[in-house]
Amino acid sequence: MRVWSVANQKGGVGKTTTVVTLAGLLAGAGHRVLAVDLDPHGSLTSYFRHDPDELERSAFDLFSGDAPDRDRLQALLLPTGHERIALLPSSTALATLERRAVGKEGMGLQVARALRRLEGEFDYVLIDSPPVLGVLMVNALAACQHLLVPVQTEYLALKGLERMVRSIAMVNRARKRKLEYSLIPTFYDRRTQASVNCLRELHREYPAQIADAVVPVDTKFRNASVQGLVPSRLDAGSRGVAAYAKLLRSLLARQMQD
Ligand SMILES: Nc1ncnc2c1ncn2[C@@H]1O[C@H](COP(=O)(O)OP(=O)(O)O)[C@@H](O)[C@H]1O
Ligand SMILES: [Mg+2]
Repeated sequence: MRVWSVANQKGGVGKTTTVVTLAGLLAGAGHRVLAVDLDPHGSLTSYFRHDPDELERSAFDLFSGDAPDRDRLQALLLPTGHERIALLPSSTALATLERRAVGKEGMGLQVARALRRLEGEFDYVLIDSPPVLGVLMVNALAACQHLLVPVQTEYLALKGLERMVRSIAMVNRARKRKLEYSLIPTFYDRRTQASVNCLRELHREYPAQIADAVVPVDTKFRNASVQGLVPSRLDAGSRGVAAYAKLLRSLLARQMQD
């Protein structure tokens, strides 16, 4: 079971879209996928037509009371309308977690522990995380073998990225195995100077981390979300889906190496 997290301390950069699109492509290739929503806003949960305000059980249960065993964990999972994609949803209760977690030990590893108990049930786990460095993001970073950082290709994007890179360095001090990450340029529009300059700077500053795949601005992503469909099911040939397919190929190739 491979676990990939998607994080950036900035909102609206394409994190949830990255999770949903990669989940769809992996499921389409026959893999069993678990999508985990650790964002209290619950965009991923809403995407798959569940209401985070109404859910009584969610990822919050990983942090409260006794750690759920395999059966209880499975009872938390919801269908997504897509074969082979299950959802561990968010709920509004997750928003209270940061306050509750203060000073409690071991709170950073709850998600990693829960996923270990689901070993064998899924081929890939994709974790969506909130744009805040707190206990939820720390859990997402601790639970994964690889981190994807979508970066919106715009003016000043690198400034925000520096913060995220510092957070990764901080998490790495506590990890046995160094967390490797890939930067995914998103919302790329080659007609705008800001996009072009930003991509050039990303290559210059982060040559080892920048992904080959560049995700263009593509309105199909929004159309897919309106319909609650993974983008590859709405339009498998769109430019946006093609970019994520390229990203996925490079992630799978890299996985073969380690
Ligand atoms: N490459 C893209 N082109 C056009 N719209 C996009 C793209 N990626 C995401 N979007 C749209 O932008 C909005 C924010 O994306 P989202 O994935 O929710 O960001 P985040 O999870 O980082 O806040 C959503 O409405 C989504 O459909
Ligand atoms: Mg999101």
